[in-house]
Amino acid sequence: MAAVSTRRPAHPGPRIVAISNQKGGEGKTTTAVNLAASLAAAEHRVLLLDMDPQANASSSVGYGRGQVEQGTYELLLGHATLADVIKKTELPALDVVPASADLAGAEVELVGLERPQLMLRGALASLREAGGPTYEYVILDCPPSLGMLTINALVVADSVLIPMQAKYFSLEGLGALQGTIAQVRAALNPNLSVEGILFCMFDPRTNLSQQVVKEVRQHFAGLVYETMIPINVRLSESPSHGKPALLYDIESRGAQAYLELAREVLARAETRA
Ligand SMILES: Nc1ncnc2c1ncn2[C@@H]1O[C@H](COP(=O)(O)OP(=O)(O)OP(=O)(O)O)[C@@H](O)[C@H]1O
Ligand SMILES: [Mg+2]
Repeated sequence: MAAVSTRRPAHPGPRIVAISNQKGGEGKTTTAVNLAASLAAAEHRVLLLDMDPQANASSSVGYGRGQVEQGTYELLLGHATLADVIKKTELPALDVVPASADLAGAEVELVGLERPQLMLRGALASLREAGGPTYEYVILDCPPSLGMLTINALVVADSVLIPMQAKYFSLEGLGALQGTIAQVRAALNPNLSVEGILFCMFDPRTNLSQQVVKEVRQHFAGLVYETMIPINVRLSESPSHGKPALLYDIESRGAQAYLELAREVLARAETRA
């Protein structure tokens, strides 16, 4: 009889990574878009899913406001299937589920449902089924709040990648997120792990930023990425062109830093396998 490996199911499904931090403006969307694009550039099939009513991730890959008829909202509420809401991007290996305008009302509508925290898990079930869409990574761009949208993302995710600035108040944000992750683990998703902590908009010239990095490395040994994303104007310009940085200016320090991050994320995946 042929040896059959029982180690992996036939269709193990993607690794679902939530990019989350309850603090606003720490680099979540920039990281979600550019990590997704960098993984796709390395020929991994990636789905970027926009969970934020601000829809910045959607417009960063070419789906601006008013251009999206069906997206995350319709998917979450069960008005559309995953296949209905997946859109292509300029990168062949990168697809997106953009945020439609109605997502702004989803927080309120979800609360009225029976098991509101589990809607995204149900909507993405086909990713783990034979015959469903095949992605290696699903990247969820979360809003800067701990509402029902973020909870839905943390419930379906395998891991959380936490972008943060090397600033004093960013440490408080990190503490708050740790508490949230512990709660979600206890109540809804015991397998949720921390993918990694990423310093964004990093300015190595200030003492404070060096100090914050040192402190976070001490508390979260092994979780902080070696790659740090520098302040780079190309990263802030590329969204208005509807492109990830590597399609806007691949030589820029920002684009290169996210390519390096993708290599580090893939290397960590190798060590887990
Ligand atoms: N490395 C960087 N260099 C320069 N500008 C950056 C960098 N990273 C992010 N930005 C800019 O900083 C602002 C905040 O970044 P971003 O939108 O990624 O944060 P966010 O955490 O998603 O914000 P929100 O909490 O509102 O969703 C944006 O204008 C973005 O273009
Ligand atoms: Mg954002």
